[in-house]
Amino acid sequence: MKTGCGRGVIGRGECQLQDFVVPVAFLVFSTILSGCICAFGLPPSIAPKTMLDLHYTDARLVALYEHDNPRGADYDFYLGLAQQLGAGKVVDLGCGTGLLARELAAEGFEVTAADPARAMLEYGQRQPGAQRVEWVLGGAEALGAQGADLLVMTGNVAQVFLTDLDWGRALRRMAKALKPDGMLAFESRNPVVRPWERWTRQNTHHQGQTPLGMVTSWLEVLRADGQSVTFTSHKVFEDHGEHVSWESTLRFRSHRELVVSLKEAGFEVRHTHGGWRREPFAEGRNATMVVVAQRM
Ligand SMILES: C[S@@+](CC[C@H](N)C(=O)[O-])C[C@H]1O[C@@H](n2cnc3c(N)ncnc32)[C@H](O)[C@@H]1O
Repeated sequence: MKTGCGRGVIGRGECQLQDFVVPVAFLVFSTILSGCICAFGLPPSIAPKTMLDLHYTDARLVALYEHDNPRGADYDFYLGLAQQLGAGKVVDLGCGTGLLARELAAEGFEVTAADPARAMLEYGQRQPGAQRVEWVLGGAEALGAQGADLLVMTGNVAQVFLTDLDWGRALRRMAKALKPDGMLAFESRNPVVRPWERWTRQNTHHQGQTPLGMVTSWLEVLRADGQSVTFTSHKVFEDHGEHVSWESTLRFRSHRELVVSLKEAGFEVRHTHGGWRREPFAEGRNATMVVVAQRM
């Protein structure tokens, strides 16, 4: 079952197991190290003002991000779209650790990857292939005119924009980052199928080996009003018994709200798919809306 903000598979028995355990001393060392490492070329002038989840700022949780959110069929979709469009330049907004950005760059695309979470970017910058990516610390406001052919937001980043004001402003900035006629592609969970109703402790409970030892995780929804959902994510580091929890809120926009907001920001929706194999979108059935829009 896919839950939380990213692509993560938290459901029982679905996570990939990793079979090595890192001692506690490494945890302490990596936390201090990641706080001290000065990322190459992150200008302090565009330091983000966004309030970020602990998930994206805590060195241990960042170190688990790619384990919890491995590459999936979504990446095949976004890579295939970039190839189909014959894109030269691609922007990955809300890139997180830049797993997709690094893959796009390895495929020969010119890639700018932006995220307001310094710890996520710094993790990505330490990974193989990172030097092929241009990294930007910040959200859409930090992009400027990129002349990009394609801008993508993956891992349900579109749902972190909680107010219509922030969403509309971000979309207009995305339009500026694109060439005239450039394409924007992203996914967002479909509120009509109310996926948060399955985000119970029982459904999301998972225990498994991670790069940081045995970890037990689960989610609990605190509030849901049909538009926004607030939930708590829990992780227990079993090797030393530490329980870390953090609260997140996601906005669920209907298909109509997405289409209207995109139009207001200067985009025209070209396709809405109901899944990563470009299935036709059925509003009453599909959990994910995969939207491809063109800058007008
Ligand atoms: C679930 S992660 C997705 C990361 C990556 N795109 C992926 O597919 O794995 C959400 C990301 O959105 C970023 N984010 C939060 N607020 C943002 C904003 N206002 N603009 C852009 N990105 C933002 C977070 O820092 C985090 O890295």
